[in-house]
Amino acid sequence: MSNQNKSLIVRAPAKINLHLEVLGLRNDGYHELAMIMQSISLSDYIEMYPNIEGSITLQTNIDNLTIGEDNLIIKAAKMLKEISGDKSLGVKINLIKNIPIGAGLAGGSTDAAAILIGLNSLWGLNYKLEYLENISSRIGSDIPFCIQGGRQLCFGRGEVLEKVESFNSNLGVILVKDPTVQVSTPWAYNKYKELFESDYLTEEYAFERKRNLVRTSNWIKHNLNEPFSLINDLQKVVLPVTPSVQNALDIFSNIPDCVAYAMSGSGPSCFGLFRDLNMANATLNKCKDTFTQSGLTAWSCSMQSEGITTIDQ
Ligand code: C5P
Repeated sequence: MSNQNKSLIVRAPAKINLHLEVLGLRNDGYHELAMIMQSISLSDYIEMYPNIEGSITLQTNIDNLTIGEDNLIIKAAKMLKEISGDKSLGVKINLIKNIPIGAGLAGGSTDAAAILIGLNSLWGLNYKLEYLENISSRIGSDIPFCIQGGRQLCFGRGEVLEKVESFNSNLGVILVKDPTVQVSTPWAYNKYKELFESDYLTEEYAFERKRNLVRTSNWIKHNLNEPFSLINDLQKVVLPVTPSVQNALDIFSNIPDCVAYAMSGSGPSCFGLFRDLNMANATLNKCKDTFTQSGLTAWSCSMQSEGITTIDQ
């Protein structure tokens, strides 16, 4: 039953891609992927105030975000209401946006995941997490991951999940992005297809062989002491046309304590990994001017082992 008197604040963390390989093309037109996604502490916060007048409204603290039907938050709320079959369910949503938009950090997807978790509770629907993950993939490939977050292997078009239960989560992260640049995800995948389709794998056994390599990679074996390289296939198409990505990766490559660095998702945000959060904080203090002079905004944050969390009000 919907609880009118209760409201919720939900924390929605961003993600980075520790690994992103494009394996081939699927029958549904999406790409078959092998990824490792990791939640980080940089988060949006979403307040939800339920009503029984059936209205779903959204307001936010930033100007350059559409709050209409194409926003994933509205799509998620409407989808859940429709599935419930109860036309009286409504909610007033206030989004406090901290995750940069169009950045490859799943900002829109994590907000949608937060709405599904929050409204499932506020509207008294009590659907299981696995069911929410399942329906969430109808509106975005990264949303299923965002629901439980942490570190997960993501296959299929991103929605087939294998959770890594225990991992070395204390690595520190420096995240950087040019605030004036956004990358369209469909553009990045289309460009990748245009350039690399002839190399695509086509057989299921070949996909599975790639998945097995990811399942036995350093990220699962916790062997992270030496500097190592990361794979993000989309970097191959975004980097040549996005100078800020080249700048960011050049800066990380010159920081001795940075153990690994890459672009996240379809970019243009990039991240560097450090022994722990203290090391990331200290490095950010030292390198702040270098990032700023290259037009990059920088954050330090930590990896975290959970996705959406609710804060009762
Ligand atoms: O699923 P989502 O809406 O996040 O995907 C955005 C776009 O990214 C898709 O329309 C498609 O162009 C591309 N994409 C893809 N293969 C995937 C995921 C996304 O080609 N596995």
